[in-house]
Amino acid sequence: MFISTGNEPLGTPLRSSEGVPRKRPTIAIDGPAASGKTTLGRILACRLGFRFLDTGVMYRTLAWIAIHRGVSLSDSVALGKLATSDIFAFAVEESNASSEERDKHRKLYTAEVGNAASQVAQWPEVREALVKQQQNIAGRGSIVMVGRDIGTMVAPRADLKVFLVASAETRARRRMLQTGEADSFPEVLAHMEERDRRDTQRSHSPLIPADDARKLDTEHMDPEQVVEKIMSWLGDS
Ligand code: DC
Repeated sequence: MFISTGNEPLGTPLRSSEGVPRKRPTIAIDGPAASGKTTLGRILACRLGFRFLDTGVMYRTLAWIAIHRGVSLSDSVALGKLATSDIFAFAVEESNASSEERDKHRKLYTAEVGNAASQVAQWPEVREALVKQQQNIAGRGSIVMVGRDIGTMVAPRADLKVFLVASAETRARRRMLQTGEADSFPEVLAHMEERDRRDTQRSHSPLIPADDARKLDTEHMDPEQVVEKIMSWLGDS
């Protein structure tokens, strides 16, 4: 029988060759803005009793600090330095905050900060600093991580990789419901398309599914159906 030491390398199969479930897996969930990653990741982590890290919060936190300290979003060196500071503790706290607590931090979820996060995320200096911190946490396993590059860069040997897709229109509608955006639908959609373009076309770690990711089109699915689908994949692993 397989007994977990907690130090198995990333990518250790969820079941041993004898079919005995292994412990401490890493689950990677990637996808574009408002594809449902965070809602899904949080429910999944809760069901499995795993830790949860929303890596987008790290990029948003960095963007928010940069805006408030007057650091230019195109100064990759200054942003890289900022990214090695105390972003991480705040972001982990935010990932696991209750919805009331998250309300206090709504500032991270404005269109301005989302857009700025996508700009700071294009710099290699920023990505290297944040990915290193994300890998330190992923290494301990028993975690659900969500982002854009979890399956490709942060945890390339994750036990299960899921890539969520849904049309930009559906994602814009979901975003409006989530945030109560004052902007009109065409404006939210235009922001969404602009972020998709930047996230998928940047030269460093663009948003693309890992070769071994399972793609899930959530266009006509509610969060509970998505969770059930992924739980069934976990059972197959
Ligand atoms: O998932 P989100 O909307 O909170 O992410 C905000 C921005 O951060 C997103 O536009 C791109 C960037 N990001 C990234 O480049 N890599 C990640 N792993 C997570 C987010």
